[in-house]
Amino acid sequence: MDRKIIVTEDKSKTLLIPALNETYHSIHGALNESMHVFIHTGFNYLLPRKELKIFEMGFGTGLNALVTLNEAIQSNTSVEYHSLEKYPITLNEINALNFESLEHLENAVYFKELHKCNWGNLHTITPFFKILKIHEDLLSNNLADAFYDLVYFDAFGPGTQADLWTASVMRKMYETLKPGGVLVTYCAQGQFKRNLKEAGFAIENLPGPAGKREITRAIKPVYR
Ligand SMILES: C[S@@+](CC[C@H](N)C(=O)[O-])C[C@H]1O[C@@H](n2cnc3c(N)ncnc32)[C@H](O)[C@@H]1O
Repeated sequence: MDRKIIVTEDKSKTLLIPALNETYHSIHGALNESMHVFIHTGFNYLLPRKELKIFEMGFGTGLNALVTLNEAIQSNTSVEYHSLEKYPITLNEINALNFESLEHLENAVYFKELHKCNWGNLHTITPFFKILKIHEDLLSNNLADAFYDLVYFDAFGPGTQADLWTASVMRKMYETLKPGGVLVTYCAQGQFKRNLKEAGFAIENLPGPAGKREITRAIKPVYR
Protein backbone atom coordinates (compact mmCIF):
# COMPACT_ATOMS: atom_id res chain seq x y z
CA MET A 1 0.00 0.00 0.00
CA ASP A 2 1.24 3.47 -0.92
CA ARG A 3 2.87 5.48 1.93
CA LYS A 4 3.94 9.12 2.19
CA ILE A 5 6.34 10.89 4.55
CA ILE A 6 4.72 13.74 6.49
CA VAL A 7 6.13 16.28 8.97
CA THR A 8 4.17 16.39 12.23
CA GLU A 9 3.57 19.39 14.50
CA ASP A 10 6.70 18.86 16.62
CA LYS A 11 8.75 18.71 13.39
CA SER A 12 9.42 14.95 13.65
CA LYS A 13 8.39 12.96 10.60
CA THR A 14 6.13 9.96 10.26
CA LEU A 15 4.42 7.89 7.57
CA LEU A 16 0.89 8.30 6.25
CA ILE A 17 -1.07 5.60 4.38
CA PRO A 18 -3.44 7.80 2.34
CA ALA A 19 -5.74 4.90 1.36
CA LEU A 20 -6.43 4.16 5.03
CA ASN A 21 -6.02 7.73 6.29
CA GLU A 22 -3.74 6.22 8.96
CA THR A 23 -0.45 7.65 10.24
CA TYR A 24 2.26 5.74 12.12
CA HIS A 25 2.23 8.41 14.83
CA SER A 26 0.16 11.44 15.73
CA ILE A 27 0.10 14.36 13.31
CA HIS A 28 0.24 16.55 16.45
CA GLY A 29 3.80 15.36 17.09
CA ALA A 30 5.25 11.91 16.40
CA LEU A 31 8.14 12.18 18.85
CA ASN A 32 5.96 13.84 21.45
CA GLU A 33 3.37 11.05 21.21
CA SER A 34 5.98 8.32 21.37
CA MET A 35 7.56 9.86 24.48
CA HIS A 36 4.25 10.46 26.22
CA VAL A 37 2.47 7.16 25.53
CA PHE A 38 5.31 4.67 25.60
CA ILE A 39 8.10 6.23 27.66
CA HIS A 40 6.35 8.35 30.29
CA THR A 41 3.29 6.12 30.68
CA GLY A 42 4.95 2.73 30.21
CA PHE A 43 8.72 2.59 30.53
CA ASN A 44 9.10 5.15 33.33
CA TYR A 45 6.19 3.61 35.25
CA LEU A 46 8.23 0.42 35.63
CA LEU A 47 11.43 2.10 36.80
CA PRO A 48 13.44 1.66 39.01
CA ARG A 49 13.53 -1.90 37.66
CA LYS A 50 16.92 -2.32 36.09
CA GLU A 51 15.97 -4.98 33.53
CA LEU A 52 12.98 -4.83 31.23
CA LYS A 53 11.68 -7.13 28.53
CA ILE A 54 9.48 -5.19 26.13
CA PHE A 55 7.20 -6.39 23.33
CA GLU A 56 6.13 -3.92 20.69
CA MET A 57 3.22 -4.58 18.37
CA GLY A 58 4.21 -2.75 15.15
CA PHE A 59 7.89 -1.84 14.61
CA GLY A 60 6.91 0.59 11.83
CA THR A 61 9.30 3.54 11.56
CA GLY A 62 11.36 2.35 14.55
CA LEU A 63 10.64 5.56 16.49
CA ASN A 64 9.33 3.79 19.62
CA ALA A 65 12.38 1.51 19.56
CA LEU A 66 14.70 4.50 19.22
CA VAL A 67 13.19 6.49 22.10
CA THR A 68 13.29 3.35 24.25
CA LEU A 69 16.97 2.77 23.42
CA ASN A 70 17.61 6.39 24.41
CA GLU A 71 15.76 5.98 27.69
CA ALA A 72 17.50 2.66 28.44
CA ILE A 73 20.91 4.32 28.13
CA GLN A 74 19.90 7.36 30.16
CA SER A 75 18.35 5.34 32.99
CA ASN A 76 20.99 2.54 32.99
CA THR A 77 18.25 -0.02 32.34
CA SER A 78 19.02 -3.23 30.44
CA VAL A 79 16.31 -3.61 27.83
CA GLU A 80 15.52 -6.59 25.63
CA TYR A 81 13.14 -5.26 23.01
CA HIS A 82 11.12 -7.58 20.77
CA SER A 83 9.20 -5.89 17.98
CA LEU A 84 6.71 -7.45 15.60
CA GLU A 85 6.07 -6.17 12.09
CA LYS A 86 4.17 -7.64 9.17
CA TYR A 87 5.01 -4.94 6.59
CA PRO A 88 8.55 -3.55 7.08
CA ILE A 89 9.18 -0.10 5.64
CA THR A 90 11.66 0.48 2.77
CA LEU A 91 15.22 1.80 2.80
CA ASN A 92 14.07 4.98 1.02
CA GLU A 93 11.51 5.57 3.75
CA ILE A 94 14.11 4.96 6.48
CA ASN A 95 16.44 7.51 4.84
CA ALA A 96 13.66 10.05 4.42
CA LEU A 97 12.49 9.72 8.04
CA ASN A 98 16.03 10.64 9.08
CA PHE A 99 15.42 10.22 12.83
CA GLU A 100 19.16 10.41 13.52
CA SER A 101 18.80 14.17 13.15
CA LEU A 102 16.04 14.43 15.80
CA GLU A 103 16.86 17.21 18.22
CA HIS A 104 16.54 16.48 21.94
CA LEU A 105 17.21 12.75 21.41
CA GLU A 106 20.77 12.20 22.51
CA ASN A 107 21.16 8.68 21.12
CA ALA A 108 19.34 9.21 17.83
CA VAL A 109 22.53 8.17 16.05
CA TYR A 110 21.49 4.50 16.54
CA PHE A 111 18.43 4.86 14.28
CA LYS A 112 19.96 3.23 11.18
CA GLU A 113 21.43 0.39 13.23
CA LEU A 114 17.97 -0.52 14.50
CA HIS A 115 16.80 -0.82 10.92
CA LYS A 116 19.92 -2.53 9.59
CA CYS A 117 19.88 -5.51 11.93
CA ASN A 118 18.23 -8.47 10.30
CA TRP A 119 14.88 -9.98 11.26
CA GLY A 120 14.67 -13.01 13.50
CA ASN A 121 17.93 -12.60 15.47
CA LEU A 122 18.66 -10.87 18.74
CA HIS A 123 21.13 -7.99 18.23
CA THR A 124 23.06 -6.03 20.84
CA ILE A 125 22.92 -2.37 19.80
CA THR A 126 24.42 -0.97 23.02
CA PRO A 127 25.24 -2.64 26.37
CA PHE A 128 21.79 -1.44 27.54
CA PHE A 129 19.72 -2.31 24.48
CA LYS A 130 19.17 -5.58 22.64
CA ILE A 131 16.59 -5.93 19.87
CA LEU A 132 14.82 -8.83 18.18
CA LYS A 133 12.71 -7.81 15.18
CA ILE A 134 10.08 -10.40 14.27
CA HIS A 135 8.72 -10.37 10.73
CA GLU A 136 5.36 -12.01 11.43
CA ASP A 137 1.64 -11.37 11.72
CA LEU A 138 0.21 -10.67 15.17
CA LEU A 139 -2.76 -12.87 14.39
CA SER A 140 -0.67 -15.99 13.75
CA ASN A 141 2.60 -15.62 15.67
CA ASN A 142 3.29 -17.28 19.02
CA LEU A 143 4.46 -15.44 22.10
CA ALA A 144 5.99 -17.00 25.21
CA ASP A 145 3.85 -17.08 28.35
CA ALA A 146 4.67 -14.62 31.18
CA PHE A 147 7.80 -13.36 29.40
CA TYR A 148 7.45 -9.56 29.06
CA ASP A 149 7.31 -6.74 31.61
CA LEU A 150 5.85 -4.24 29.19
CA VAL A 151 3.82 -4.26 25.96
CA TYR A 152 3.70 -1.29 23.62
CA PHE A 153 0.47 -1.91 21.71
CA ASP A 154 0.90 0.32 18.65
CA ALA A 155 -1.30 -1.14 15.92
CA PHE A 156 -3.28 1.05 13.54
CA GLY A 157 -6.55 2.09 15.15
CA PRO A 158 -9.52 -0.24 15.73
CA GLY A 159 -11.45 1.69 13.06
CA THR A 160 -8.92 0.40 10.49
CA GLN A 161 -7.81 -2.96 11.91
CA ALA A 162 -10.54 -4.08 14.32
CA ASP A 163 -9.19 -7.66 14.28
CA LEU A 164 -6.03 -6.55 16.14
CA TRP A 165 -7.91 -5.03 19.11
CA THR A 166 -10.22 -7.92 20.07
CA ALA A 167 -10.58 -9.61 23.46
CA SER A 168 -8.77 -12.65 22.07
CA VAL A 169 -5.74 -10.59 20.98
CA MET A 170 -5.80 -8.82 24.36
CA ARG A 171 -5.86 -12.23 26.04
CA LYS A 172 -2.70 -13.07 24.06
CA MET A 173 -1.07 -9.85 25.35
CA TYR A 174 -2.21 -10.75 28.87
CA GLU A 175 -0.70 -14.24 28.66
CA THR A 176 2.64 -12.98 27.36
CA LEU A 177 2.99 -10.44 30.19
CA LYS A 178 4.41 -11.39 33.58
CA PRO A 179 2.09 -10.85 36.56
CA GLY A 180 2.31 -7.13 37.35
CA GLY A 181 3.20 -6.45 33.69
CA VAL A 182 1.87 -3.42 31.86
CA LEU A 183 0.38 -2.70 28.42
CA VAL A 184 0.32 0.88 27.14
CA THR A 185 -1.38 2.25 24.05
CA TYR A 186 -2.55 5.53 22.55
CA CYS A 187 -6.04 4.03 22.10
CA ALA A 188 -8.90 4.78 24.49
CA GLN A 189 -11.85 3.38 22.51
CA GLY A 190 -14.68 2.04 24.72
CA GLN A 191 -14.98 -1.40 23.09
CA PHE A 192 -11.21 -1.87 23.23
CA LYS A 193 -11.19 -1.10 26.95
CA ARG A 194 -14.00 -3.60 27.51
CA ASN A 195 -11.89 -6.16 25.61
CA LEU A 196 -8.94 -5.46 27.90
CA LYS A 197 -11.13 -6.01 30.97
CA GLU A 198 -12.56 -9.21 29.50
CA ALA A 199 -8.97 -10.44 29.01
CA GLY A 200 -8.28 -9.85 32.71
CA PHE A 201 -6.54 -6.47 32.77
CA ALA A 202 -7.15 -3.66 35.25
CA ILE A 203 -7.20 -0.41 33.29
CA GLU A 204 -6.29 3.20 33.91
CA ASN A 205 -7.45 6.13 31.78
CA LEU A 206 -4.68 8.69 31.58
CA PRO A 207 -4.31 12.08 29.88
CA GLY A 208 -3.13 11.86 26.28
CA PRO A 209 -0.47 13.78 24.37
CA ALA A 210 -1.28 16.89 22.29
CA GLY A 211 -4.46 16.36 20.27
CA LYS A 212 -5.67 13.34 22.30
CA ARG A 213 -7.81 13.48 25.43
CA GLU A 214 -7.08 10.02 26.87
CA ILE A 215 -4.77 7.05 26.53
CA THR A 216 -4.82 3.67 28.27
CA ARG A 217 -2.53 1.81 30.63
CA ALA A 218 -3.56 -1.77 31.40
CA ILE A 219 -2.08 -3.84 34.20
CA LYS A 220 -2.00 -7.60 34.61
CA PRO A 221 -2.82 -8.16 38.27
CA VAL A 222 -0.24 -9.97 40.36
CA TYR A 223 -2.92 -12.21 41.92
CA ARG A 224 -6.00 -13.58 40.16
C1 LIG B 1 0.87 2.59 14.15
S1 LIG B 1 2.05 1.72 13.16
C2 LIG B 1 3.37 1.40 14.30
C3 LIG B 1 4.27 2.56 14.51
C4 LIG B 1 5.57 2.15 15.15
N1 LIG B 1 5.41 1.65 16.49
C5 LIG B 1 6.61 3.24 15.09
O1 LIG B 1 7.29 3.52 16.12
O2 LIG B 1 6.76 3.81 14.01
C6 LIG B 1 1.30 0.08 13.08
C7 LIG B 1 2.24 -0.96 12.52
O3 LIG B 1 1.62 -2.24 12.59
C8 LIG B 1 2.00 -2.98 11.42
N2 LIG B 1 1.01 -4.07 11.22
C9 LIG B 1 -0.21 -3.98 10.66
N3 LIG B 1 -0.85 -5.17 10.72
C10 LIG B 1 -0.03 -6.03 11.36
C11 LIG B 1 -0.13 -7.39 11.74
N4 LIG B 1 -1.25 -8.11 11.49
N5 LIG B 1 0.90 -7.96 12.40
C12 LIG B 1 2.03 -7.24 12.66
N6 LIG B 1 2.19 -5.94 12.31
C13 LIG B 1 1.18 -5.34 11.68
C14 LIG B 1 1.99 -1.93 10.34
O4 LIG B 1 2.73 -2.33 9.22
C15 LIG B 1 2.61 -0.74 11.06
O5 LIG B 1 4.01 -0.75 10.94
